[in-house]
Amino acid sequence: MNEKEHFKESSSDSVYSLKNVSLFETIYGKNLISIGSFASVDYMFSDLTIKGLNALDIGFGLGGIAFYLAKNYQMKICGIEIHPWMVKYAYEHAPKDITPQLNFAIYDDKGRIPYNAESFDIVYSKGVLNHVRDKETLFQQVNTTLKPSGLFVITDWIFPQSTPDNSGPLVCETQASYQQVLQNAGFNKISFRNDSKMFLGYVQALLENLKKCKESIGQEYGKELFSEIWNQHQELIEDIQHSRKFSMRILAKKPAG
Ligand SMILES: C[S@@+](CC[C@H](N)C(=O)[O-])C[C@H]1O[C@@H](n2cnc3c(N)ncnc32)[C@H](O)[C@@H]1O
Repeated sequence: MNEKEHFKESSSDSVYSLKNVSLFETIYGKNLISIGSFASVDYMFSDLTIKGLNALDIGFGLGGIAFYLAKNYQMKICGIEIHPWMVKYAYEHAPKDITPQLNFAIYDDKGRIPYNAESFDIVYSKGVLNHVRDKETLFQQVNTTLKPSGLFVITDWIFPQSTPDNSGPLVCETQASYQQVLQNAGFNKISFRNDSKMFLGYVQALLENLKKCKESIGQEYGKELFSEIWNQHQELIEDIQHSRKFSMRILAKKPAG
């Protein structure tokens, strides 16, 4: 399998491999695998008070968001992943001064989040949940790990009312289906903030940066892969501009008990 096929491969196992780290960091920024850099992390929590909270990061990837929140908001962050190499990677790349605030793990052998009930003030997830088909099981576990009145904060793609095509590797939710699955998992006070305009700016900035890295990506990974990444992000811009896809910040609260 060449680099291009490897990156395009639909299974999350092969895309999210250690050998793609330098490519991810060139596209998304240091220790990140999602669009918008740290500005989008600040914006995700812009209307919330998060300083000093205990948090769980679902799908921490390379650990960049956890490092950022630990350093800039003095938070204690646990993280959960499906890829064991990411646990090792995040520990190895965490700035030394914040390692006491961090804990990374994979799901236990029964597929459960390995943290105690009512451990967290806040659970967050950025750019991950469109990989998860059985959201209800995961969201029930999230609910259990939250303290009463705790908050679940999500950044994810949402599709318009029309029936979404769920034949691909990524799961397409509508606002209604997200609302329903969060309710089923025991959450209330569910709200949706459409961040698509902000995301449009983030994708445009990403493309500007990609232009500057054209030579180096071409040399290391091949010109075809560069074009593939370029076209994917151009397509994303068109999808956002034509309201075929929305970037949503979703909040859901665990009831007080
Ligand atoms: C687009 S990356 C985002 C990583 C990180 N949140 C960030 O913004 O840099 C998606 C991540 O979700 C992880 N992932 C996929 N399914 C998951 C699941 N069911 N639970 C936890 N993580 C998952 C992948 O391993 C990958 O690291």
